[in-house]
Amino acid sequence: MKSIYPPEDFVEKANVKDPAIYSKAKENWIDYWESFAKELHWFEPWEKFFDDSKAPYYRFFVNGKINASYNCVDRHLKEKRNKAAIIWEGEKGENRVLTYFDLYREVGKLSNALRNLGVKKGDKVGIYMPNLPEAVISMLAAARIGATHVFIFAGFSPKSAAFRMKDSGVKLLITADGYYRRGNLINLKEKADEALEEYKGVENVVVVRRAGNEIDMKEGRDHDYAELVRKEKAKSECEITDANDPLFIIYTSGSVAEPKGIIHSTGGYLVHVYATSKIVLDLKDEDVLFCTADLGWITGHSYSVYGPLSLGATVLLYEGAPDYPDICRTFELIEKYGVTVFYTVPTLVRMLQGCGNIDSFDLSTLRLIGSVGEPLEAENWLWLYEEVGKKKCPVVDTWWQTETGGIVIAPIPALTPMKPGSVSKPLPGIEVDIYDSGGKKAKPYQLGHLVIKKMFPGFMLGIHGDPKAYVQLYWSKFGKRVYLTGDYAYYDEDGYIWISGRADDVINISGHRVSLVEIEKVVKELREVADCAAIGVPDRIKGTAIALFVVAEKSDDLAEKIKKKIEEDIGRIALPRLIVFVKELPKTAGKVFKRAIADAVIKKEISGIASNVEVVKKIAEKIDKNA
Ligand code: WTA
Repeated sequence: MKSIYPPEDFVEKANVKDPAIYSKAKENWIDYWESFAKELHWFEPWEKFFDDSKAPYYRFFVNGKINASYNCVDRHLKEKRNKAAIIWEGEKGENRVLTYFDLYREVGKLSNALRNLGVKKGDKVGIYMPNLPEAVISMLAAARIGATHVFIFAGFSPKSAAFRMKDSGVKLLITADGYYRRGNLINLKEKADEALEEYKGVENVVVVRRAGNEIDMKEGRDHDYAELVRKEKAKSECEITDANDPLFIIYTSGSVAEPKGIIHSTGGYLVHVYATSKIVLDLKDEDVLFCTADLGWITGHSYSVYGPLSLGATVLLYEGAPDYPDICRTFELIEKYGVTVFYTVPTLVRMLQGCGNIDSFDLSTLRLIGSVGEPLEAENWLWLYEEVGKKKCPVVDTWWQTETGGIVIAPIPALTPMKPGSVSKPLPGIEVDIYDSGGKKAKPYQLGHLVIKKMFPGFMLGIHGDPKAYVQLYWSKFGKRVYLTGDYAYYDEDGYIWISGRADDVINISGHRVSLVEIEKVVKELREVADCAAIGVPDRIKGTAIALFVVAEKSDDLAEKIKKKIEEDIGRIALPRLIVFVKELPKTAGKVFKRAIADAVIKKEISGIASNVEVVKKIAEKIDKNA
């Protein structure tokens, strides 16, 4: 496909327009990253930029002292005191604006309250909240006092929340009474209470009054957020944290049954999201960034909070569902707040195409569009470029992961000719490759494992409480110097990278990582279920959906029971689109042969080894009946 060159107007004003950035980063890798680090505020400079002596544990900015909250708030007070840091809109259209000075006060007050409740440096603070300003304030308040935040996506079930709190050892939880989702009131406090029945390690719960719904407040344990902070002073000393102190833990799904707690550093992480917000999202002082991700996912952490706020930009935070009251809500928000940089996921891009007359919205403020989370098909790329951006906005397809902290592969919008459907090339200072299973570089168009060969500051510190999994999942296939991403990809003849999808038992639903093994484990816990297999099947809107094959006597009751169990144990996000009851699953060496099922369902092909063919045929027949 033909390359598309960045629009001239855009290039003229871009943050980065000198192509030498690539060669400079190659020749002097340390200088490249350090130059970004020097734009942030450090209490004490680092002694060494990079330490790989304990590979595969890599450390950056060794012994540097820095505070993330200081860099996202205090640093801007002199020049941006009255500038909007966060513009918030609730699902019902309510609106709040917090200036940098407001943010400073709110973060300071809450951090003092947390201190008074006994939270100390290194303690874990849970945040179980939807997209509310208080969620951002909570993250920054924890960071201010050197505590590690553990954000739990509000859509997760109490069981999932309990698992995350227990695994990370959360001591204090910040949550909300309720919130709105597609017009319905969700009683979040009730979910939190249920989680706290299961995990008893939380001493104090701070409750934001968002919806005003009736809730139980447990004497001695639960505190009203507003009452708690009212008495506190805004001034709050920043803890001097080390560059390699954990800023947060965030859970993500892997190819094992249990979610893993990915630990991110303070210094390296901040430098990485700061730098990428500047070079890829091209953020400038006058921008309004709308990142549509939920704060509970890494994209929300990096590009609704730490990246843009460390740069002193303005962030639009939206609480509700993107399709409420109708599918055009996102365009309404862009128009209403004059959004200039729009960062979203392909699922929403596909949904938005149902909005009808885009031209009834004034989207002329937009100057850059970005995408992340799953492959952005060429046709969707072109729709964004032509219909939404009117050929004035570069569309940057950015590849990265929870583990990488920030963007790794993406065009630099003013420099890189864009190929719709490709994530283009790694950013300066980062080296990736595509390997065949034997560790040899793949030829053009040969599908292989996407790997990372040169570390970068945003890379995770490790997995909380599970060093074995860290080594086994990422560093055992190609050794301690080559990071296995878990994605399949290929090069084209120009060395552009095309991502094909996950190579492991993880799928992307609406840009969210879901573990198939985790779903299978939960379903197998039901007495009636003898065996089961979950596979990902293409879905027009969500990208991928789940089809579940269950060995059990068919009954409507059981299908409902399975759905209820998945919803309770994981969350609605993991609900299957299709449940098929079968007599048997194809197996090889005792393991379910999922590829054979997938071939039968997706490609309508009967594959697998001889002994399985009949079993697979039966499954295929069932599917036809179900279709
Ligand atoms: C997928 C989200 C294609 C990929 C930031 C990766 C993508 C997983 C892209 C990480 C992209 C992310 N094109 N696929 N531009 N970006 N992915 O941890 O499979 O929730 O491994 O982080 O999303 O998902 P995670």
